[in-house]
Amino acid sequence: MHNDIKEILISEEEIKAKCKELGKQLSEEYEGKFPLAIGVLKGAMPFMSDVLRYTEVHLEMDFMDVSSYDGGTRSSGEVKIVKDLDAKVEGRDLLIIEDIIDSGLTLSYLVDLFKYRKANSIKIVTLLDKPSGRTAAIKADLAGFEVPNEFVVGYGLDYQEKYRNLPYIGVLKPEIYGGEEESE
Ligand code: PRP
Ligand code: MN
Ligand code: MG
Repeated sequence: MHNDIKEILISEEEIKAKCKELGKQLSEEYEGKFPLAIGVLKGAMPFMSDVLRYTEVHLEMDFMDVSSYDGGTRSSGEVKIVKDLDAKVEGRDLLIIEDIIDSGLTLSYLVDLFKYRKANSIKIVTLLDKPSGRTAAIKADLAGFEVPNEFVVGYGLDYQEKYRNLPYIGVLKPEIYGGEEESE
């Protein structure tokens, strides 16, 4: 285990099994369709890669890079588009792929944007859901694991751009982020 990690919440094996399960559900959901799978960079990168390899439908992959945490543990409350999609959204069935829903601000911004761009349907799959952090009315259609109100890193999730490469989801030792309080 990495030295900055207090505890492993979700192991590599548990993540893999969940990706298989979610991939299968997505295959059923989108059977006969050609969805546009949208990975929300950067955090969703490992999960998107793993969950989509267990789907059996034709799909298109695209990426949107948005950021609201500026590397810290608190949401700035403002969502910044760093990179927009290449694909056109109008009339498409969208599958937004996220690593975590915390306040819900990132997703509520994206859902509004894609509605405005006239998507045919919008669904959300997230690996992690932290319902205790929610301030915006957003719910995932599919969620892998519920996590407690602690700052988690690994498997795409960062603190100051670090720890995204860990193969598991872990809780950071409080001394690493200087005892800064969790976002509420
Ligand atoms: C994180 C995470 C989600 C979002 C969830 O992204 O990857 O996209 O915050 O938080 P919310 O529900 O409170 O909006 P971040 O802004 O840190 O960018 P990153 O993915 O590049 O790390
Ligand atoms: Mn993100
Ligand atoms: Mg981040």
